[in-house]
Amino acid sequence: MGEELLLNKKILVMGVANKRSIAWGCAKTMEEQGATIIYTYQNERMKKSIQKLVPNEKYLIECDVSSDENIKNAFAEVEKRFGKVDGIVHAIAYANREELQGDIMNTSREGYEMAQDISAYSLIAVAKYGKDILNNPASIVTLTYMGSTRAIPNYNVMGVAKAALESSMRYLARDMGKFGVRVNAISAGAMKTLAVTGVADHSSLLKESERRTVDHHSVTLEEIGGVCAFLMSDLSKGIVGDVIYVDKGVHLI
Ligand SMILES: NC(=O)c1ccc[n+]([C@@H]2O[C@H](COP(=O)([O-])OP(=O)(O)OC[C@H]3O[C@@H](n4cnc5c(N)ncnc54)[C@H](O)[C@@H]3O)[C@@H](O)[C@H]2O)c1
Repeated sequence: MGEELLLNKKILVMGVANKRSIAWGCAKTMEEQGATIIYTYQNERMKKSIQKLVPNEKYLIECDVSSDENIKNAFAEVEKRFGKVDGIVHAIAYANREELQGDIMNTSREGYEMAQDISAYSLIAVAKYGKDILNNPASIVTLTYMGSTRAIPNYNVMGVAKAALESSMRYLARDMGKFGVRVNAISAGAMKTLAVTGVADHSSLLKESERRTVDHHSVTLEEIGGVCAFLMSDLSKGIVGDVIYVDKGVHLI
């Protein structure tokens, strides 16, 4: 009792690379709340890594979001194996290492496009094809960071992509409403994941973020997972098109 916020719900989680992934924190908490979790992974290399966490192949489906074809096929496979699902967690971002340092003026056209494509456009593509495999009602949650609205050292092109992601999220929330799909974002505090190690001097970023929390303890995967479970649940039916900060107050200070 009390542990079944997501009983009978099937949630597709995109973006688990390893046990430190925010997507993994979300998956674990949602599973504890009764959900069945289906995972997509980027490529063969990621498959090896995720298999250590999810040994049952049935729950693993390949999906590289840089290709529409790939997303379409992956979602068709999800439906074939599990039928319609009740939610999608989009926890995917990428920028070239060279773009995540120094001055924003050094951003190349190609690097900019890459960051936008994988980190922002992919949410639109996921919603577009996801619509066909989502129940009514359903919920989509994406992961963002306050570098979208603040100039964070070295975060640069990814901050620009997060601004686009948050805006895409709002427009999607408007247009997916007629299908009974809510769309929201979690703005997570900085945590040490594979993605963050691409940002130059990320150890300073992590240290400074921890220092700026209200109690000097960085947010945990469980804390982010809890909010993700809430946003997937019927308890949050009234929340549409919003960015929920889960950063222990860093954005306040
Ligand atoms: N770590 C942080 O401090 C932090 C803070 C706020 C928001 N976020 C966001 O959380 C999300 C998850 O990142 P994370 O920090 O857990 O790192 P992570 O490295 O564990 O996850 C990133 C995931 O993106 C996937 N990915 C990259 N390119 C892809 C592609 N072309 N197709 C499919 N998948 C692809 C990777 O395989 C990986 O699983 C990202 O959107 C990130 O920007 C992270």
